[in-house]
Amino acid sequence: MNGRNTLKINGAGHLEIGGADTVELAEKFGTPLYVLDEKHIRDMMRAYKNTIDECYGGNGTVLYASKAFSCTAVYAIAKSENIGVDTVSAGELYTALQAGFPADRIYLHGNNKLFSELELAVDCGIGAVVLDSFGEADILNAICAKRGKIQNVLIRINPGIEAHTHAFVQTARTDSKFGFSVSDGTAEEMAAYVIDKQNLRLKGFHCHIGSQIFEKKSFALAAEKVMRFMADMKTELGYSAEVLNLGGGFGIWYNDEDPELKIDDYKDYVRVIIDTVKQKAREYKMNEPYLVLEPGRSIVGEAGITLYTVGAVKEIKGVKKYVAIDGGMFDNPRYALYQSKYTVMLANRANDACTDKVSVAGKCCESGDIIAVDVPLPETRRGDIMAVLSTGAYNYSMSSNYNRNFVPPVILVNEGKAEYIVKPQTFEDLVRNDIIPERLK
Ligand code: LLP
Repeated sequence: MNGRNTLKINGAGHLEIGGADTVELAEKFGTPLYVLDEKHIRDMMRAYKNTIDECYGGNGTVLYASKAFSCTAVYAIAKSENIGVDTVSAGELYTALQAGFPADRIYLHGNNKLFSELELAVDCGIGAVVLDSFGEADILNAICAKRGKIQNVLIRINPGIEAHTHAFVQTARTDSKFGFSVSDGTAEEMAAYVIDKQNLRLKGFHCHIGSQIFEKKSFALAAEKVMRFMADMKTELGYSAEVLNLGGGFGIWYNDEDPELKIDDYKDYVRVIIDTVKQKAREYKMNEPYLVLEPGRSIVGEAGITLYTVGAVKEIKGVKKYVAIDGGMFDNPRYALYQSKYTVMLANRANDACTDKVSVAGKCCESGDIIAVDVPLPETRRGDIMAVLSTGAYNYSMSSNYNRNFVPPVILVNEGKAEYIVKPQTFEDLVRNDIIPERLK
């Protein structure tokens, strides 16, 4: 089983996460329920941070990419682990600040940051804004000038690598809404543009080559390309970048098609990046840059599971057997969006042989509301507790109230003890912002 000791099957044949019996969790907190194991999150944050400390003399930092899972408790964990966070909206930034997260350890990303988002970033004293358009540089500079402030910024560049789970391609031109292409010269043009801005301090460059990537070489290649670009900027513009931010993207285990990586494997990714950066710094006679990494999925993904209760079981003779759960695309839209494959099991009968093949359907009024297709399960009955594994990343953060279902609450498990970090929604929450105009009453 995956999860580096996060998941176990106990003597009662029940699935355990972080030392807590999931059947008991389902009874106590109800379903659907997101469960996160705190130890796993901390172990992953430390793995990245310690590797930078040990192999790069601490000349860098880890930012947890909080789009993967954003709530105040997770920022509190990141704060206590002494790492930074990456945010992509005023909402994420506000949530981090509400958690008491130090603003100078926060970065703000986004291809179309709003004026109000940039204002909030400057006013809270954010660590760095990662610029993604010429216009944004103008707006941010004006906001800072008005306040007499100077803001640290990076530029997001596009080195021409597109990485996918097990492969990557190098392209001469990159079609992306993110970043500035190196190959067509706009990255250099933007660098020169920002260097000239009085109230912006260009600290360096950022790139992010994709997500759910296993190929070490794609990260090494990205590091190589950005280092090359930095060397060129020194020659062309006389500008020495201090910061190299390589984004996130490290893959996790979802199902049998994915490798099961151990903590040491993730450390290896960081070592490969560091070795490349050091080698290129020597080659180009540059100072070694301050290295920033932004892992999201790999920090919280395998730390989380979702628990459901099985309802309707429907067999279409000779076609398919559907097992319906009390959740669905409103708590996990990733099958509907990306046909992502998940591992599904019965938490209350975890040792039972998988004699059946079923598709797991959600409860939304939509045929595409599916969680898993043709997965092996024991004979499944109404009332069984189903666990979907590796749901810690991009499930809660992409959830919705579709069909006016409740977004499930989130509990954090720590050495067998469980507590809410996001409490259950209520009917009042659903209508809180609704207004019936007088004329309709
Ligand atoms: N940094 C930047 C600038 C990013 O755009 C992302 C992810 C990350 C870091 C973190 O990447 P990670 O380590 O989590 O792979 N909703 C999609 C994933 C979108 C990722 C977007 N950017 C999904 O559910 O698979």
